[in-house]
Amino acid sequence: MEIIEIDQSKYVFVCEVGSLPAMASKAFSVELGEGKGCDGFLVRTDDDNLYAYVNTCPHTGAPLNWTPDQFLTSSGRYIQCSIHGAMFKSDTGECFAGPCSGKFLKILRVVEQTNKAYVALADI
Ligand code: FES
Repeated sequence: MEIIEIDQSKYVFVCEVGSLPAMASKAFSVELGEGKGCDGFLVRTDDDNLYAYVNTCPHTGAPLNWTPDQFLTSSGRYIQCSIHGAMFKSDTGECFAGPCSGKFLKILRVVEQTNKAYVALADI
């Protein structure tokens, strides 16, 4: 497990993102031992920012993805749950359409360094 420290916060490596294009998503799973860890995903938005979320829909708690790395609408603009179609803003995780409208995905602080994504340990 690779850990880095930024501004006195620890971040754990979750996956390579150098080849993740804008408006695309990628799943990750991080195990911290002793039952800790999470399944999450990364989204790169059209302005090239990277966001990370826990892979749990606020509607039922189910995983959101359609296929292993596909969390987005066909346009790539929004996150969409594969179960009942709830739609979420890619940069905030806010649901704006569907059965959990007004609720949020759990966002994880993420940093990108040398083509690698790291998520804040305190958020997991
Ligand atoms: S489980 Fe995601 S919208 Fe119902």
